[in-house]
Amino acid sequence: MKERLKELQLEALERVEKASTLSDLQDIRVAYLGKKGPITEVLRGMGKLSQEERPIIGELANKVREGIANELDVKKAKLEAKELDKKLEQETIDITLPGRPVQVGGPHLLTSIVQEIEDLFIGMGFEIREGPEVETDYYNFEALNLPKGHPARDMQDSFYITEDLLLRTHTSPVQARTMGEYKGSQPVKMICPGKVYRRDTDDATHSHQFTQVEGLYVDKDVRMSDLKGVLNSFAKQLFGEDREIRLRPSFFPFTEPSVEMDISCKVCNGKGCSVCKRTGWIEILGGGMVHPRVLELAGYDPKVYNGFAFGMGPERIAMLKYGVDDIRHFYANDVRFLKQYHKAE
Ligand code: PHE
Repeated sequence: MKERLKELQLEALERVEKASTLSDLQDIRVAYLGKKGPITEVLRGMGKLSQEERPIIGELANKVREGIANELDVKKAKLEAKELDKKLEQETIDITLPGRPVQVGGPHLLTSIVQEIEDLFIGMGFEIREGPEVETDYYNFEALNLPKGHPARDMQDSFYITEDLLLRTHTSPVQARTMGEYKGSQPVKMICPGKVYRRDTDDATHSHQFTQVEGLYVDKDVRMSDLKGVLNSFAKQLFGEDREIRLRPSFFPFTEPSVEMDISCKVCNGKGCSVCKRTGWIEILGGGMVHPRVLELAGYDPKVYNGFAFGMGPERIAMLKYGVDDIRHFYANDVRFLKQYHKAE
């Protein structure tokens, strides 16, 4: 039995020596030290041995088992270290490889055009105001001379939240809010950019949500010619010195008289083409002299104060300036579209 144990030890150690992978070692461990292995078998047969032999063989068997286990551990550590070295070698980073280019974003075309419009009006002494997108019926309509049941409310199909709350259909409520804050005693000169909502079916020129920039100037002795001067200067700075504007009579309940402003078509230079529908002119905004009733409701005495107001759609302006043919491009977030308008900063 002694001989058999020694043989087993030698054999096992030899195999450990030759093993080249961790799974080889595991096989050896199972083969020699497992429950069905030869050493366990030897220990099982000890019952047949004499009293004197039993402790000697027992001790030897344990030593052999420990010896093999030790060797297995030592070899395991070696193989693991080797494997780690190999992995580290394979995973070294080649710092001379060219890097992946980082995608740099830029402002959305709509953001840029609104900023450009803001800058132009700041240059003419206007301040920037904001108002809530969820608006009361009062500010969206009533304060703008559109009492309940007024047929002109139908011009702006609305998203109502409750009977009295809606998503604002235009930025004009900010006129009433600002005048209210100024308490009828100071001039107001502001523009207000922001999102507006209408129950329209989306197509190339309509969107249920779009942007407006409102303008309001209230003071003593404001005239229609002031409105024309400001808008003319704005249009020329935005679209180019060679562009002409014209004002056409129109109707809004909150301005009297009301106008729509056209700009001469750049594509055909006013001669008439498909872009301007053969008229030579393209409509870009609505405006007029603030209705006395609107001033009065906001606490301004219409005998002392008067003013002008206007509202424009930056999407439409960007479409004309950059030749964008579908308003949905602004909201589809196709990077190929967006990237075309990233200015080099
Ligand atoms: N609020 C009007 C609209 O959305 C535009 C407008 C603003 C007209 C200010 C006159 C004065 O159509």
